Amino acid sequence: LAADAFFPASRPIALTFDDVSLATLHSEILPKQADTATTLSDSLRLQIPVISADMDTVTESRMAIAMALNGGLGLIHYNMPPKDQVKEVARVKRHIHGLIQDPITVTSDVLIGDVLAIIEQKRFSFSTFPVVDSDGRLAGLLSGNVVKDRYKSKRVADVMTPRSALITELDSTLGADPIKAADRFFDAHVGINKMLVVDRDDRLRGLVTISDVEKINSETKARRKPARDAQFRLVVGAALSPVRLPSGALDRDKILTHVGHLVEEQIDAVAISTAHAHTSGVGDMVRLVRDAFPDLTIIAGNVTSGAGVEFLAERGANAIKIGQGPGSICTTRIVAGVGIPQLTALYVASRSAAARGVRIIADGGITKSGDIVKALTLADAVICGSLLAGCREAPGEIMEISGKLYKQYRGMGSLAAMKAGSAARYGHDKNDATRKVAAEGIEALKEVSGSVDDVLGVLIGGVQSGMGYLGAANLAALRDHARYIRVSPAGQKEAAPHDVVEVSTRKN
Ligand code: XMP
Repeated sequence: LAADAFFPASRPIALTFDDVSLATLHSEILPKQADTATTLSDSLRLQIPVISADMDTVTESRMAIAMALNGGLGLIHYNMPPKDQVKEVARVKRHIHGLIQDPITVTSDVLIGDVLAIIEQKRFSFSTFPVVDSDGRLAGLLSGNVVKDRYKSKRVADVMTPRSALITELDSTLGADPIKAADRFFDAHVGINKMLVVDRDDRLRGLVTISDVEKINSETKARRKPARDAQFRLVVGAALSPVRLPSGALDRDKILTHVGHLVEEQIDAVAISTAHAHTSGVGDMVRLVRDAFPDLTIIAGNVTSGAGVEFLAERGANAIKIGQGPGSICTTRIVAGVGIPQLTALYVASRSAAARGVRIIADGGITKSGDIVKALTLADAVICGSLLAGCREAPGEIMEISGKLYKQYRGMGSLAAMKAGSAARYGHDKNDATRKVAAEGIEALKEVSGSVDDVLGVLIGGVQSGMGYLGAANLAALRDHARYIRVSPAGQKEAAPHDVVEVSTRKN
């Protein structure tokens, strides 16, 4: 049945991923042709609809870089001081510049000794600088091999390569992909390892280094297209919690200062992450951030009702996280007795989201690629915690227990995580996060699962298979084509390998 017939409002029973299966349809689409691109707002596009969870055992900069390189998005968690979170975001945005739009420049009148002091003070890892005049026009290139102590009393003008000897590229000829343009440039000018980009008035507009291009090319060879912003930087998001004053009111100054710093680092999305977002506190926070940053992509959640989606959409959220209690480390349903099995929650949310023109993100409970396919018949993207927590890019040490390798994975509502900062997500104060507060998550271990590339390769391969079975060339077609059938317990048993002894040939 189509979604509206399968999940009628009057249906007394809520369903989750394993309760249903999708019907196959006539298909002209091979899995590898299926396009998995999605959008979280009009300005934020991902190549794959997968987001790594804003949890302190899942997403810091290393995970976010790996996610963006694979075409997805990482949400940096908030169990760290705001200034550290800003640094984590900066690490992702600066991972590979591609076209460095504001290269660090020097003027021709300064001493090499001064340049050396700046390198030391700012801890630059490079020592080649374009030289510009007071109008920003290119005057030369100061190459790293003359930025040495022995030349410290010389002026930049005395040792730089002058403008007349430099080969440059016009910004108007770059096209949409500066890396492709740089590839052509370095092929045409063997021996040159910096492409200086200028405008028609010879003002410096950017810089591409050959080592960055080589790094980008080798990193993208094996993968899908990375998710990049308009300046060709990797995309990244960061989680925010409703910071409050002792009076209980939102600490507007702290929140806006923090978001301001994230925006300065060119953050692509903030995620206002709480366990229960259909509350005036979260609504006020969404509105506060929306009013101050009209163009910023805001993700907010979590909710599991149509009214909750409408509430957050009205206040300015672009994408809304759906899920209360489906997560592998969640105990909300057991502790609080609330929450709706995830597929029904997604159905309800998707109808309100369509009416309001916002996106929804399926958050929690994804254990295999088939769950992602089912989620994407109703949602625009999924958030994965458990599936990524065992990757080497997740924070935390690998530990060995009885010959097997594990990493820590804990709920943000576990006592340990709440003490580390996430108490506000569950409506508690960090200092109260003792045994007196009901934890809504557990601390656990995940078996080490290799790299994000490997894990996402398998997951996205599965998603594309699902799209192939449904004849869906893209995610809009997948939503449109989906037909659901209820699966009996015997059918669920039949769906997994059975009556054989499984032999594993691939581990890590
Ligand atoms: P998975 O199933 O991918 O779920 O491991 C990750 C999602 O679970 C949510 N989350 C929690 N929910 N108590 C909860 O009820 C918790 O302690 C907790 N920690 C994380 C969160 O939405 C995450 O993305």
